[in-house]
Amino acid sequence: MMTRHLSAAALLAGLAFASGGAHAADDAQVARGAYIARAGDCVACHTATGGAPFAGGLAIQTPMGRIYSTNITPDPETGIGTYDFAAFDRAVRGGVNQAGHRLYPAMPYPSYARVSPDDMQALYAYFMHGVKPQHQPNRPADIAWPLSMRWPLMVWDAMFAPSPATATAPPSGSADQLARGRYLVVGLEHCGSCHTPRGFALQEKALTDVDGTAYLSGAPIDGWLAKSLRSDGPDGLSAWSVRDIVTFLKTGRTDQVAAFGGMKDVVVHSTQYLNDDDLTAIALYLKSLGGKGGAAPALRPDATATTALRTGHDLPRGGRVFLDNCAACHRTGGQGYDGVFPRLALSSVVNSADPMSLVRIVLEGSRMAPTAGAPAAFGMPGLGWRLDDRDVADVVTFIRTSWGNHGAPVSAEDVARIRRTINSGPTPESRNTVDPSPS
Ligand code: HEC
Ligand code: HEC
Ligand code: HEC
Repeated sequence: MMTRHLSAAALLAGLAFASGGAHAADDAQVARGAYIARAGDCVACHTATGGAPFAGGLAIQTPMGRIYSTNITPDPETGIGTYDFAAFDRAVRGGVNQAGHRLYPAMPYPSYARVSPDDMQALYAYFMHGVKPQHQPNRPADIAWPLSMRWPLMVWDAMFAPSPATATAPPSGSADQLARGRYLVVGLEHCGSCHTPRGFALQEKALTDVDGTAYLSGAPIDGWLAKSLRSDGPDGLSAWSVRDIVTFLKTGRTDQVAAFGGMKDVVVHSTQYLNDDDLTAIALYLKSLGGKGGAAPALRPDATATTALRTGHDLPRGGRVFLDNCAACHRTGGQGYDGVFPRLALSSVVNSADPMSLVRIVLEGSRMAPTAGAPAAFGMPGLGWRLDDRDVADVVTFIRTSWGNHGAPVSAEDVARIRRTINSGPTPESRNTVDPSPS
């Protein structure tokens, strides 16, 4: 009797322990999955502006027409509640959903194919147990037949999408920081989907460093220039230290620059949440990429522009526009104010061969991304309504040739062309805009 009692109690205690233990393990797995979802930036595309997280419905413009991201909450009717692990894995890494439809590559499965099976398990645990179900039916794509047929995507996948990885991921804090950084950049963080130029079928010209020097060599995205992340002299990250890159990804700014365009959303939804080991690994990996070389230019402290701006003598027309519209924040020396107003002297945005981002920020303005590390979001007013194409061409040409800058002149025709592209809507890798109202 006594023995039976004891063993029943022991059994109960054992069960309680086992289930408690299992719960603790699940919670850890769900938390790990949440971190992986941040690194994958799933929320940015799968959340409509003002909508519930992961419930889908964000419109994404593709060359064939508009498509909508889907509901990936665990709602069984409208979301992915009935997906088992294999179906989830096949959608995220293989680009085929549970119903057997090929996904449009606006979903970055060619990058997610690099995610390891163990990270996929944690991601699945998070989506099933850490995300609140939302009942929200998916919207069909606005693509007319025959382009709406999904089977040709099979050919695209065969040509361009790698098969899912089988190796375990180098863990966060791994001694092999380069391997960890590479894992994050080419896979979960899919930096290349914006920073790598695309080919004839809109495929990324290189999916990793191994595929060639096109990888992360810079590309236009949604009317902004996602610059080269290679060591490409003045245009790339040659002048950035590992610490600059870490600070930028964590806070959305450095003393000299601030994130804008699609990069704001990347920082706000994804990189600001990565731990310092992972950010350092990413920075080391980027710095390990080669590039066209070429030294970053040195700051020339005494520039005629500064004197002309201060005295008003020999001031070109663009200098006058600068004094009236920009100098209050960016200062007559073009040095800005550290962490508040970006530096224009030697800025890669200012000097870039393609002036798209520079012209656009003058036309539209921008408000910085608020992050936990840098909560104050300073703004720049859009001046497109006040400055005509010639004013903008003159002022950007002025700043591209002042304070040691070396950019080629920009014409009023260039400005007119960029003005037109701004109104033509977002392209595949389109995000929620953190705060669309400039200033
Ligand atoms: C750059 C935008 C983007 C990002 C980032 C993104 N997705 Fe998607 N995803 C999409 C789009 C668009 C679709 C729908 C594609 C289609 O209709 O063919 C989709 C489809 C899916 C589907 C298929 C659902 C179904 O029922 O058909 C799953 C599952 C999914 N995404 C999960 C994820 C996860 C998990 C992440 C983060 C690791 C993620 N997505 C990140 C854009 C994105
Ligand atoms: C949604 C598209 C998108 C993705 C994904 C993306 N970027 Fe960017 N990135 C941009 C754009 C657009 C710019 C130019 C605006 C700017 O300079 O902030 C940019 C600029 C940058 C800059 C230069 C900032 C400056 O002012 O010179 C760095 C560094 C950078 N990105 C790193 C990364 C890294 C690392 C990743 C992956 C973790 C990444 N980006 C993913 C769009 C993207
Ligand atoms: C009220 C202050 C203010 C004024 C006036 C202003 N700016 Fe800005 N500027 C900013 C702020 C703040 C940012 C950062 C915005 C962001 O990151 O979203 C910025 C960013 C920029 C950038 C991007 C720099 C980088 O590397 O990130 C350029 C280029 C620029 N401004 C040029 C100009 C020009 C040219 C004018 C005048 C036509 C001008 N600005 C007027 C405050 C101002």
